[in-house]
Amino acid sequence: MSKYSEISGYLESQVDIKPEIAIILGSGLGRLADYVEDAKIISYRSIHEKFPEFPVSTAPGHKGNFIFGRINGKNVIMMQGRFHYYEGYSMEQVTFPVRIFAKLGVSTLIVTNAAGGVNLDYEAGDIMIIKDHIRLSPNPLIGKNLDEFGVRFPDMTVVYDKGLRAMAHEIAGEMGIKVFEGVYMNLTGPSYETVSEVKMFRIMGSDAVGMSTVPEVIVARHCGIRVFGMSVITNKATSEDGELLDEQDVLVHADKAATNVMAIVSEMIRRV
Ligand code: HPA
Repeated sequence: MSKYSEISGYLESQVDIKPEIAIILGSGLGRLADYVEDAKIISYRSIHEKFPEFPVSTAPGHKGNFIFGRINGKNVIMMQGRFHYYEGYSMEQVTFPVRIFAKLGVSTLIVTNAAGGVNLDYEAGDIMIIKDHIRLSPNPLIGKNLDEFGVRFPDMTVVYDKGLRAMAHEIAGEMGIKVFEGVYMNLTGPSYETVSEVKMFRIMGSDAVGMSTVPEVIVARHCGIRVFGMSVITNKATSEDGELLDEQDVLVHADKAATNVMAIVSEMIRRV
């Protein structure tokens, strides 16, 4: 039995909820966990203690828990805190939970993140529905293909489900929440971008940059999981006049937009 089957089997023995939808919460969005009803929390640490190959999370603003429960009548598993490549985890570790989701029978993944605005129309606190991505980190599928999940060369033509994107626009419209739709680009971090790098990213077609999401999304698509993603623009990626980027500002803006993000996400969960 693979380690993924073993760990998902262990989780199934701990909770009686079979999740249909998985939600990954980004930096500063962790309090969205409060929306889960009948929450059963399983810390990454407790899994790591039984299965050492399962990682534990260290980034600021990130807790390390799986939360099983219900949102608007649907069974969900939420990741409060994710694993970043810049923390020193391997891509296999970064994407480990997604393969657990696949084993648990999850069919839809909703990812959120904090990102820097590259598109000049974006302001701190804006929300961007992810239309597509540009991967600038290593590909998480490098290495022997895991045939138990998917094919060697998975298609990436339509990564972010069109129906879910349309639904998110419709809901945001009904709720009077302004949303953009754009291209997310991932970098490894942990340093933020230079002014010149951001100019280059704009030319390349990026609307927002961040340090997560793309590896998990690629692995989810490899497993055949349908994906929806949303970024909170916490800052302009760089300012020409040399205003410096502060990690605390990122968290404050994420917190402000979190209410709107969750309003959209919870209504999407009701409708899927
Ligand atoms: N760059 C990269 N990642 C980020 C940023 C940024 O400006 N803001 C939040 N995450």
